[in-house]
Amino acid sequence: MKNRTRRGSEISQGRDVPESSWGVALIGPGRVGQAMAQLLARAGVRIRFVAARRLSRARQAARFIGSGKVVRLDDPALAGAKIFLITVKDSAIAPVAGELAGIIPNWRGRIALHTCGSASASLLTPLARKGASIGSVHPYQTVPSREAGIKNLPGGYWAVDGDARARRLAGRWVKLLKGTSFSIPANRRTLYHLSAFLVSPTTVTLIDQSEKLLRIAGVPKRVIRPMLTRFVGETLENFAQFGALKSLTGPAIRGDWTTLEKHAAALKRTAPQLLPLYHELVVAMLRVAGKRSRALDSGRAGRGVDRKANFIGKFKP
Ligand SMILES: NC(=O)c1ccc[n+]([C@@H]2O[C@H](COP(=O)([O-])OP(=O)(O)OC[C@H]3O[C@@H](n4cnc5c(N)ncnc54)[C@H](OP(=O)(O)O)[C@@H]3O)[C@@H](O)[C@H]2O)c1
Repeated sequence: MKNRTRRGSEISQGRDVPESSWGVALIGPGRVGQAMAQLLARAGVRIRFVAARRLSRARQAARFIGSGKVVRLDDPALAGAKIFLITVKDSAIAPVAGELAGIIPNWRGRIALHTCGSASASLLTPLARKGASIGSVHPYQTVPSREAGIKNLPGGYWAVDGDARARRLAGRWVKLLKGTSFSIPANRRTLYHLSAFLVSPTTVTLIDQSEKLLRIAGVPKRVIRPMLTRFVGETLENFAQFGALKSLTGPAIRGDWTTLEKHAAALKRTAPQLLPLYHELVVAMLRVAGKRSRALDSGRAGRGVDRKANFIGKFKP
């Protein structure tokens, strides 16, 4: 009873209670959730609950985070938290928010944030209807494991969204993690998220294809990974220093159409499934090159234009 009174006063006093003492419930402790919770805990944020579908999973996560009472997702004790960091998979956010709204009757004074990049705070509407402030705090980062998140989330870039109170909290958390926050309109979230998709998992997919070609070409296995890592790293360094246009190199940019034709013919023989991808990439690359590519065409008195058109037409899958 004593406890309940204390919790009640924590909620009703709202902003008067120092933020460091606000209890955070981590809902769905996956890779992002565990990494964020450990980093926030180290920065002085109080992780009060770690809630998962399975207690064993919550227990493991709480050990990693270093704090948090282990509970199931439907435990009414979660009412003791003021802040809810919801890090379940995207498709589970709205249903889990609906379930939480059913478990805790009063959401006034509470704040709920999710970490999904492609959707706005509106996924948490069931909680807003019960009085909660809702928002999202999305790291523009790839987090393949909780350990990777501990290394790469600090100093990162975060899209924050939601009502004023939720945005303020999200912004403070980003500051604690020494990051940079920005906001984008709700109707552009998909594009924003798509931009991340276009450069991270797709890059890994392309690297995987290169790795296979190098193996077929006979490059020693021990050389392949460090060589590709150095090469891709160098490409990123160039982008950081010069931007996209000036970082472009290779036969498409030089106008070496014979080399491109040899590539396409080799792909047809060895990995025909890659031909459509290769073709689209060359076309997209030439679009990025834009003026540079046109200057190259005119410098060759029209011959370059013909060969470019010929290449694009001939190898169109
Ligand atoms: N990983 C990234 O690179 C990355 C980057 C930026 C943002 N995000 C966002 O962060 C959020 C979490 O991503 P993640 O990669 O950390 O996911 P994750 O490692 O797969 O973890 C997902 C968590 O959701 C729980 N879960 C799944 N389905 C559920 C359901 N129906 N009900 C309740 N809990 C459920 C899982 O619990 P079980 O263990 O019981 O399955 C697990 O704890 C997502 O919104 C994602 O878009 C991810």
